Amino acid sequence: MQRFGDGRDWFFEKRFGLFIHWGLYAINAWHEQDQWRRGIPRTIYEQLRNQFIPIHFDPDAWLDAAEAAGMEYICFTTKHHDGFCMWSTAQTDYNIMNTPYERDILAQLAEACHRRGFPLCLYYSVVDWHHPNYPNQGRSHELPAPEPGDEPNIERYLEFLKAQVHELCTQYGDIHGFWWDMNVTGLVDPSINHMIRELQPNAVINNRGFDEGDFGTPERDFEQSSALVFERPTEACQSIGRESWGYREDEDYYSLTHLLRSIDRALARGGNYLLNVGPKADGTLPGVAVNRLARIGDWYQSVREAFDGAEPASVLTENREVLLTRKGRTLYVHLCQEPTVERVLLKPLTVKPKSATLLNTGEPLVVSTDSIPTQHMDGGGLPTTGPREWLRVHRIPVDDLTDTVPVIKLEFDAPIG
Ligand code: GLC
Repeated sequence: MQRFGDGRDWFFEKRFGLFIHWGLYAINAWHEQDQWRRGIPRTIYEQLRNQFIPIHFDPDAWLDAAEAAGMEYICFTTKHHDGFCMWSTAQTDYNIMNTPYERDILAQLAEACHRRGFPLCLYYSVVDWHHPNYPNQGRSHELPAPEPGDEPNIERYLEFLKAQVHELCTQYGDIHGFWWDMNVTGLVDPSINHMIRELQPNAVINNRGFDEGDFGTPERDFEQSSALVFERPTEACQSIGRESWGYREDEDYYSLTHLLRSIDRALARGGNYLLNVGPKADGTLPGVAVNRLARIGDWYQSVREAFDGAEPASVLTENREVLLTRKGRTLYVHLCQEPTVERVLLKPLTVKPKSATLLNTGEPLVVSTDSIPTQHMDGGGLPTTGPREWLRVHRIPVDDLTDTVPVIKLEFDAPIG
Protein backbone atom coordinates (compact mmCIF):
# COMPACT_ATOMS: atom_id res chain seq x y z
CA MET A 1 0.00 0.00 0.00
CA GLN A 2 1.26 3.42 -0.97
CA ARG A 3 1.83 5.38 2.22
CA PHE A 4 1.21 9.10 2.63
CA GLY A 5 4.86 9.82 3.40
CA ASP A 6 4.05 12.22 6.25
CA GLY A 7 2.64 12.35 9.76
CA ARG A 8 -0.53 10.60 8.63
CA ASP A 9 1.38 7.35 8.32
CA TRP A 10 0.57 6.53 11.96
CA PHE A 11 -2.59 5.09 10.39
CA PHE A 12 -0.61 2.20 8.88
CA GLU A 13 1.06 1.36 12.19
CA LYS A 14 -1.96 1.52 14.47
CA ARG A 15 -4.68 -0.38 12.71
CA PHE A 16 -7.34 -1.20 15.22
CA GLY A 17 -9.35 1.56 16.84
CA LEU A 18 -12.31 2.23 19.10
CA PHE A 19 -15.26 4.16 17.67
CA ILE A 20 -17.39 5.92 20.26
CA HIS A 21 -20.91 7.16 19.53
CA TRP A 22 -22.00 9.22 22.48
CA GLY A 23 -24.47 12.01 22.84
CA LEU A 24 -27.91 12.90 24.18
CA TYR A 25 -29.32 9.80 22.49
CA ALA A 26 -27.67 7.64 25.16
CA ILE A 27 -30.38 8.82 27.56
CA ASN A 28 -33.27 7.20 25.67
CA ALA A 29 -30.89 4.28 25.02
CA TRP A 30 -32.73 3.30 21.83
CA HIS A 31 -30.66 4.39 18.80
CA GLU A 32 -28.34 7.27 17.96
CA GLN A 33 -30.88 8.44 15.39
CA ASP A 34 -33.78 8.36 17.80
CA GLN A 35 -34.96 11.88 16.91
CA TRP A 36 -35.30 10.98 13.23
CA ARG A 37 -36.25 7.31 13.33
CA ARG A 38 -39.05 7.78 15.85
CA GLY A 39 -40.01 11.22 14.53
CA ILE A 40 -39.48 13.04 17.83
CA PRO A 41 -40.11 16.78 17.39
CA ARG A 42 -36.95 18.78 17.87
CA THR A 43 -38.44 20.81 20.71
CA ILE A 44 -39.03 17.59 22.62
CA TYR A 45 -35.74 15.89 21.75
CA GLU A 46 -33.60 18.87 22.69
CA GLN A 47 -34.98 18.74 26.23
CA LEU A 48 -32.78 15.73 26.76
CA ARG A 49 -29.94 18.12 27.37
CA ASN A 50 -31.48 18.92 30.75
CA GLN A 51 -31.02 15.30 31.73
CA PHE A 52 -27.45 14.81 30.57
CA ILE A 53 -25.39 14.26 33.73
CA PRO A 54 -22.69 11.68 32.92
CA ILE A 55 -21.23 11.62 36.41
CA HIS A 56 -19.27 8.44 35.77
CA PHE A 57 -17.58 9.61 32.57
CA ASP A 58 -13.91 8.72 32.83
CA PRO A 59 -11.96 8.85 29.58
CA ASP A 60 -9.25 6.67 31.08
CA ALA A 61 -11.79 3.88 31.61
CA TRP A 62 -12.65 4.08 27.90
CA LEU A 63 -9.00 3.97 26.91
CA ASP A 64 -8.35 1.09 29.30
CA ALA A 65 -11.14 -0.91 27.63
CA ALA A 66 -9.73 -0.02 24.21
CA GLU A 67 -6.24 -1.08 25.22
CA ALA A 68 -7.56 -4.35 26.61
CA ALA A 69 -8.85 -5.07 23.09
CA GLY A 70 -5.47 -4.18 21.59
CA MET A 71 -6.86 -1.00 20.10
CA GLU A 72 -4.50 1.89 19.51
CA TYR A 73 -6.65 4.87 18.56
CA ILE A 74 -10.06 6.30 19.21
CA CYS A 75 -12.63 8.14 17.13
CA PHE A 76 -15.24 10.19 18.97
CA THR A 77 -18.57 11.68 17.87
CA THR A 78 -18.16 15.40 18.48
CA LYS A 79 -21.52 16.06 16.80
CA HIS A 80 -23.88 13.41 15.47
CA HIS A 81 -26.91 13.99 13.23
CA ASP A 82 -28.92 15.38 16.15
CA GLY A 83 -26.62 18.42 16.11
CA PHE A 84 -25.74 18.28 19.81
CA CYS A 85 -22.09 19.21 20.39
CA MET A 86 -19.94 17.36 22.89
CA TRP A 87 -17.49 20.23 23.22
CA SER A 88 -17.56 23.81 24.35
CA THR A 89 -18.37 25.41 21.03
CA ALA A 90 -19.01 29.11 20.57
CA GLN A 91 -21.06 28.46 17.41
CA THR A 92 -24.24 27.16 19.06
CA ASP A 93 -25.53 26.89 22.58
CA TYR A 94 -26.73 23.35 21.83
CA ASN A 95 -23.69 21.90 23.51
CA ILE A 96 -22.41 20.12 26.56
CA MET A 97 -21.78 23.33 28.52
CA ASN A 98 -25.52 23.91 28.58
CA THR A 99 -26.36 20.69 30.36
CA PRO A 100 -26.40 20.12 34.12
CA TYR A 101 -22.97 18.51 33.58
CA GLU A 102 -21.40 21.75 32.25
CA ARG A 103 -18.02 20.24 31.44
CA ASP A 104 -16.32 19.86 28.08
CA ILE A 105 -16.34 16.13 27.26
CA LEU A 106 -13.98 16.43 24.33
CA ALA A 107 -11.44 18.39 26.39
CA GLN A 108 -11.33 15.61 28.97
CA LEU A 109 -11.02 12.90 26.37
CA ALA A 110 -8.31 14.82 24.51
CA GLU A 111 -6.35 15.34 27.72
CA ALA A 112 -6.39 11.59 28.46
CA CYS A 113 -5.46 10.71 24.86
CA HIS A 114 -2.54 13.14 24.80
CA ARG A 115 -1.30 12.01 28.20
CA ARG A 116 -1.35 8.38 27.07
CA GLY A 117 -0.09 8.96 23.53
CA PHE A 118 -3.35 7.62 22.13
CA PRO A 119 -4.29 9.09 18.73
CA LEU A 120 -7.62 10.90 18.80
CA CYS A 121 -9.86 11.20 15.72
CA LEU A 122 -13.01 13.25 15.52
CA TYR A 123 -16.32 12.24 13.97
CA TYR A 124 -18.52 15.07 12.69
CA SER A 125 -21.91 14.76 11.01
CA VAL A 126 -22.68 17.15 8.17
CA VAL A 127 -26.38 16.38 8.43
CA ASP A 128 -27.77 18.41 11.30
CA TRP A 129 -31.30 18.05 12.72
CA HIS A 130 -30.97 21.04 14.97
CA HIS A 131 -29.19 23.88 13.21
CA PRO A 132 -31.72 26.28 11.64
CA ASN A 133 -29.63 26.73 8.49
CA TYR A 134 -29.11 23.07 7.65
CA PRO A 135 -31.37 22.40 4.62
CA ASN A 136 -33.32 19.38 5.87
CA GLN A 137 -35.46 18.18 2.99
CA GLY A 138 -35.99 14.47 3.49
CA ARG A 139 -32.92 13.17 1.74
CA SER A 140 -31.12 10.24 3.36
CA HIS A 141 -30.87 10.77 7.12
CA GLU A 142 -32.42 14.24 6.93
CA LEU A 143 -35.55 15.45 8.66
CA PRO A 144 -38.46 15.33 6.19
CA ALA A 145 -38.66 19.12 6.06
CA PRO A 146 -37.43 22.20 7.91
CA GLU A 147 -38.98 22.62 11.34
CA PRO A 148 -40.81 25.81 12.42
CA GLY A 149 -38.39 28.72 12.62
CA ASP A 150 -35.70 27.14 10.41
CA GLU A 151 -34.02 29.20 7.73
CA PRO A 152 -32.45 26.69 5.34
CA ASN A 153 -29.32 28.22 3.88
CA ILE A 154 -26.45 25.94 2.97
CA GLU A 155 -23.92 28.78 2.65
CA ARG A 156 -24.63 29.95 6.16
CA TYR A 157 -24.61 26.39 7.44
CA LEU A 158 -21.19 25.84 5.89
CA GLU A 159 -19.90 28.96 7.60
CA PHE A 160 -21.07 27.47 10.88
CA LEU A 161 -19.56 24.08 10.03
CA LYS A 162 -16.19 25.59 9.08
CA ALA A 163 -16.11 27.62 12.28
CA GLN A 164 -16.78 24.45 14.27
CA VAL A 165 -14.13 22.47 12.42
CA HIS A 166 -11.71 25.30 13.10
CA GLU A 167 -12.47 25.09 16.81
CA LEU A 168 -12.01 21.33 16.81
CA CYS A 169 -8.70 21.64 15.02
CA THR A 170 -7.28 24.41 17.20
CA GLN A 171 -8.54 23.91 20.74
CA TYR A 172 -7.82 20.27 21.52
CA GLY A 173 -4.16 19.71 20.69
CA ASP A 174 -3.07 17.07 18.22
CA ILE A 175 -5.90 15.52 16.24
CA HIS A 176 -5.04 12.38 14.31
CA GLY A 177 -8.07 12.06 12.13
CA PHE A 178 -11.25 13.69 10.93
CA TRP A 179 -14.20 11.39 10.31
CA TRP A 180 -16.95 13.04 8.30
CA ASP A 181 -20.38 11.48 8.06
CA MET A 182 -23.48 12.10 5.93
CA ASN A 183 -22.57 14.76 3.44
CA VAL A 184 -26.06 14.29 2.06
CA THR A 185 -25.84 17.54 0.15
CA GLY A 186 -23.18 15.90 -2.03
CA LEU A 187 -21.27 19.15 -1.85
CA VAL A 188 -17.67 19.11 -3.06
CA ASP A 189 -15.44 21.69 -1.40
CA PRO A 190 -11.77 20.74 -1.02
CA SER A 191 -11.12 23.93 0.96
CA ILE A 192 -12.64 22.33 4.06
CA ASN A 193 -10.26 19.38 4.23
CA HIS A 194 -7.52 21.77 3.20
CA MET A 195 -8.13 23.76 6.37
CA ILE A 196 -7.93 20.57 8.46
CA ARG A 197 -4.66 19.61 6.76
CA GLU A 198 -3.17 23.04 7.44
CA LEU A 199 -4.15 22.96 11.10
CA GLN A 200 -3.64 19.23 11.79
CA PRO A 201 -1.09 17.75 9.39
CA ASN A 202 -1.15 14.32 11.10
CA ALA A 203 -4.88 13.93 10.61
CA VAL A 204 -6.14 11.29 8.21
CA ILE A 205 -9.48 12.30 6.70
CA ASN A 206 -12.17 9.89 5.60
CA ASN A 207 -14.14 9.86 2.34
CA ARG A 208 -17.56 10.94 3.63
CA GLY A 209 -16.87 14.66 3.63
CA PHE A 210 -16.41 17.26 0.94
CA ASP A 211 -13.83 15.40 -1.14
CA GLU A 212 -12.41 11.90 -1.43
CA GLY A 213 -10.18 12.31 1.62
CA ASP A 214 -7.48 9.81 2.52
CA PHE A 215 -9.32 6.58 3.20
CA GLY A 216 -12.44 4.57 2.46
CA THR A 217 -15.01 3.55 5.09
CA PRO A 218 -16.85 0.31 4.29
CA GLU A 219 -19.53 -0.03 6.94
CA ARG A 220 -20.45 -3.09 8.97
CA ASP A 221 -20.21 -6.13 6.70
CA PHE A 222 -22.78 -4.81 4.30
CA GLU A 223 -20.32 -3.99 1.56
CA GLN A 224 -18.91 -7.45 0.97
CA SER A 225 -15.92 -7.02 -1.23
CA SER A 226 -14.14 -9.94 -2.82
CA ALA A 227 -10.91 -7.95 -3.16
CA LEU A 228 -7.98 -9.82 -1.65
CA VAL A 229 -6.28 -6.57 -0.80
CA PHE A 230 -7.60 -3.03 -0.37
CA GLU A 231 -6.36 -0.75 -3.07
CA ARG A 232 -6.55 2.48 -1.13
CA PRO A 233 -6.19 3.05 2.59
CA THR A 234 -9.33 1.67 4.18
CA GLU A 235 -10.86 1.59 7.61
CA ALA A 236 -13.77 -0.81 7.97
CA CYS A 237 -16.23 0.23 10.67
CA GLN A 238 -18.61 -1.88 12.64
CA SER A 239 -20.67 -1.52 15.77
CA ILE A 240 -20.49 -4.13 18.48
CA GLY A 241 -24.28 -4.45 18.37
CA ARG A 242 -26.45 -5.16 15.35
CA GLU A 243 -28.97 -2.37 15.82
CA SER A 244 -27.31 0.77 16.95
CA TRP A 245 -24.09 2.76 17.20
CA GLY A 246 -25.27 4.77 20.18
CA TYR A 247 -25.98 3.00 23.47
CA ARG A 248 -28.98 0.72 23.17
CA GLU A 249 -30.23 -0.82 26.36
CA ASP A 250 -31.90 -3.71 24.52
CA GLU A 251 -29.06 -4.21 22.04
CA ASP A 252 -28.61 -7.44 20.09
CA TYR A 253 -24.88 -7.91 20.27
CA TYR A 254 -22.87 -9.60 17.56
CA SER A 255 -21.25 -12.88 18.50
CA LEU A 256 -17.60 -12.78 19.40
CA THR A 257 -16.78 -15.06 16.48
CA HIS A 258 -18.57 -12.83 13.99
CA LEU A 259 -16.61 -9.84 15.22
CA LEU A 260 -13.29 -11.68 15.11
CA ARG A 261 -13.93 -12.82 11.54
CA SER A 262 -14.93 -9.35 10.51
CA ILE A 263 -11.83 -7.82 12.12
CA ASP A 264 -9.56 -10.45 10.61
CA ARG A 265 -10.98 -9.99 7.10
CA ALA A 266 -10.31 -6.27 7.20
CA LEU A 267 -6.85 -6.42 8.74
CA ALA A 268 -5.63 -9.34 6.60
CA ARG A 269 -6.58 -7.42 3.47
CA GLY A 270 -4.46 -4.47 4.57
CA GLY A 271 -7.18 -2.34 6.10
CA ASN A 272 -7.80 -0.80 9.51
CA TYR A 273 -10.74 -1.64 11.73
CA LEU A 274 -12.81 0.73 13.83
CA LEU A 275 -15.09 -1.09 16.25
CA ASN A 276 -17.83 0.95 17.88
CA VAL A 277 -19.22 0.99 21.39
CA GLY A 278 -21.95 3.36 22.61
CA PRO A 279 -21.37 4.49 26.21
CA LYS A 280 -24.34 4.74 28.54
CA ALA A 281 -25.76 8.09 29.58
CA ASP A 282 -23.77 7.96 32.81
CA GLY A 283 -20.54 7.76 30.83
CA THR A 284 -19.68 4.12 31.47
CA LEU A 285 -19.33 1.50 28.78
CA PRO A 286 -21.90 -1.32 28.80
CA GLY A 287 -20.61 -4.41 30.59
CA VAL A 288 -21.26 -6.70 27.63
CA ALA A 289 -19.17 -4.46 25.41
CA VAL A 290 -16.30 -4.29 27.89
CA ASN A 291 -16.33 -8.07 28.08
CA ARG A 292 -16.35 -8.46 24.28
CA LEU A 293 -13.47 -6.03 23.98
CA ALA A 294 -11.40 -8.00 26.47
CA ARG A 295 -12.07 -11.26 24.65
CA ILE A 296 -11.24 -9.68 21.32
CA GLY A 297 -8.01 -8.53 22.95
CA ASP A 298 -7.13 -12.09 24.02
CA TRP A 299 -7.46 -13.25 20.43
CA TYR A 300 -5.74 -10.23 18.94
CA GLN A 301 -2.78 -10.57 21.25
CA SER A 302 -2.28 -14.22 20.32
CA VAL A 303 -2.38 -13.67 16.55
CA ARG A 304 -1.14 -10.12 16.31
CA GLU A 305 2.18 -10.90 14.70
CA ALA A 306 0.20 -11.98 11.64
CA PHE A 307 -0.84 -8.33 11.15
CA ASP A 308 1.92 -6.11 12.51
CA GLY A 309 4.32 -5.27 9.74
CA ALA A 310 2.79 -7.99 7.55
CA GLU A 311 1.43 -7.49 4.06
CA PRO A 312 -1.60 -9.04 2.40
CA ALA A 313 -0.55 -12.14 0.44
CA SER A 314 -3.77 -13.97 -0.43
CA VAL A 315 -2.82 -13.99 -4.11
CA LEU A 316 -0.32 -16.75 -3.26
CA THR A 317 -3.11 -19.31 -3.05
CA GLU A 318 -6.27 -20.08 -4.97
CA ASN A 319 -7.96 -21.21 -1.74
CA ARG A 320 -10.66 -18.57 -1.21
CA GLU A 321 -11.64 -19.94 2.20
CA VAL A 322 -8.59 -18.36 3.79
CA LEU A 323 -6.67 -15.10 3.66
CA LEU A 324 -2.90 -14.88 3.78
CA THR A 325 -0.49 -12.31 5.13
CA ARG A 326 3.29 -12.51 4.95
CA LYS A 327 6.44 -11.11 6.47
CA GLY A 328 9.51 -12.14 4.50
CA ARG A 329 9.71 -15.92 4.66
CA THR A 330 6.87 -16.25 7.12
CA LEU A 331 3.36 -16.81 5.87
CA TYR A 332 0.23 -16.50 8.00
CA VAL A 333 -2.94 -18.38 7.11
CA HIS A 334 -6.14 -16.80 8.42
CA LEU A 335 -9.13 -19.12 8.73
CA CYS A 336 -11.61 -16.24 8.65
CA GLN A 337 -14.57 -18.39 7.61
CA GLU A 338 -15.96 -21.25 9.63
CA PRO A 339 -13.47 -24.07 9.03
CA THR A 340 -15.32 -27.06 7.60
CA VAL A 341 -12.43 -29.47 7.42
CA GLU A 342 -9.32 -30.11 9.51
CA ARG A 343 -6.92 -29.17 6.76
CA VAL A 344 -5.96 -26.18 4.69
CA LEU A 345 -4.72 -26.77 1.18
CA LEU A 346 -2.56 -23.96 -0.13
CA LYS A 347 -2.45 -24.83 -3.80
CA PRO A 348 -0.51 -23.84 -5.88
CA LEU A 349 2.22 -23.54 -3.21
CA THR A 350 4.45 -26.60 -3.38
CA VAL A 351 7.19 -25.90 -0.85
CA LYS A 352 7.00 -27.41 2.61
CA PRO A 353 7.71 -24.94 5.44
CA LYS A 354 10.15 -25.85 8.17
CA SER A 355 7.46 -25.31 10.79
CA ALA A 356 3.75 -24.78 11.18
CA THR A 357 2.27 -23.31 14.34
CA LEU A 358 -1.27 -22.52 15.39
CA LEU A 359 -0.77 -19.03 16.78
CA ASN A 360 -3.91 -19.13 18.92
CA THR A 361 -2.50 -21.87 21.14
CA GLY A 362 1.15 -22.09 20.15
CA GLU A 363 0.79 -25.76 19.25
CA PRO A 364 2.65 -27.22 16.27
CA LEU A 365 0.64 -28.49 13.29
CA VAL A 366 1.39 -31.19 10.75
CA VAL A 367 2.41 -29.96 7.36
CA SER A 368 3.30 -31.82 4.16
CA THR A 369 3.20 -31.59 0.40
CA ASP A 370 0.81 -34.16 -0.96
CA SER A 371 -0.90 -35.50 -3.97
CA ILE A 372 -4.48 -35.66 -2.80
CA PRO A 373 -7.52 -37.28 -4.42
CA THR A 374 -9.77 -34.26 -4.72
CA GLN A 375 -7.15 -32.55 -6.84
CA HIS A 376 -7.07 -35.31 -9.45
CA MET A 377 -8.70 -34.27 -12.70
CA ASP A 378 -11.88 -36.02 -13.76
CA GLY A 379 -10.91 -39.51 -14.78
CA GLY A 380 -7.67 -38.27 -16.23
CA GLY A 381 -5.37 -38.58 -13.25
CA LEU A 382 -2.97 -35.82 -12.29
CA PRO A 383 -1.92 -33.22 -14.83
CA THR A 384 1.09 -34.48 -16.80
CA THR A 385 2.99 -31.23 -16.46
CA GLY A 386 3.56 -28.94 -13.51
CA PRO A 387 3.37 -29.71 -9.82
CA ARG A 388 1.50 -32.73 -8.56
CA GLU A 389 1.78 -32.10 -4.86
CA TRP A 390 0.64 -29.10 -2.91
CA LEU A 391 1.20 -27.63 0.48
CA ARG A 392 -1.23 -29.03 3.01
CA VAL A 393 -1.59 -28.14 6.70
CA HIS A 394 -3.54 -30.85 8.42
CA ARG A 395 -4.81 -32.19 11.75
CA ILE A 396 -6.03 -28.70 12.61
CA PRO A 397 -8.20 -29.13 15.75
CA VAL A 398 -11.14 -27.36 14.12
CA ASP A 399 -13.73 -28.56 16.60
CA ASP A 400 -11.84 -26.79 19.37
CA LEU A 401 -11.61 -23.62 17.31
CA THR A 402 -15.24 -22.88 16.48
CA ASP A 403 -15.39 -19.67 18.51
CA THR A 404 -12.28 -18.02 17.16
CA VAL A 405 -10.34 -17.17 14.05
CA PRO A 406 -7.46 -19.63 13.83
CA VAL A 407 -4.26 -18.20 12.39
CA ILE A 408 -1.46 -20.52 11.31
CA LYS A 409 2.14 -19.42 11.04
CA LEU A 410 4.28 -21.13 8.40
CA GLU A 411 8.03 -20.52 8.43
CA PHE A 412 9.93 -21.28 5.26
CA ASP A 413 13.63 -21.69 4.58
CA ALA A 414 13.36 -20.33 1.08
CA PRO A 415 11.53 -17.37 -0.45
CA ILE A 416 7.79 -18.10 -0.82
CA GLY A 417 5.83 -18.19 -4.05
C1 GLC B 1 -24.27 4.92 9.75
C2 GLC B 1 -25.27 5.35 10.78
C3 GLC B 1 -24.75 6.49 11.60
C4 GLC B 1 -23.39 6.15 12.14
C5 GLC B 1 -22.46 5.74 11.02
C6 GLC B 1 -21.10 5.31 11.46
O1 GLC B 1 -24.10 5.86 8.76
O2 GLC B 1 -26.47 5.73 10.11
O3 GLC B 1 -25.62 6.79 12.62
O4 GLC B 1 -22.87 7.26 12.76
O5 GLC B 1 -23.04 4.67 10.34
O6 GLC B 1 -20.40 4.82 10.35
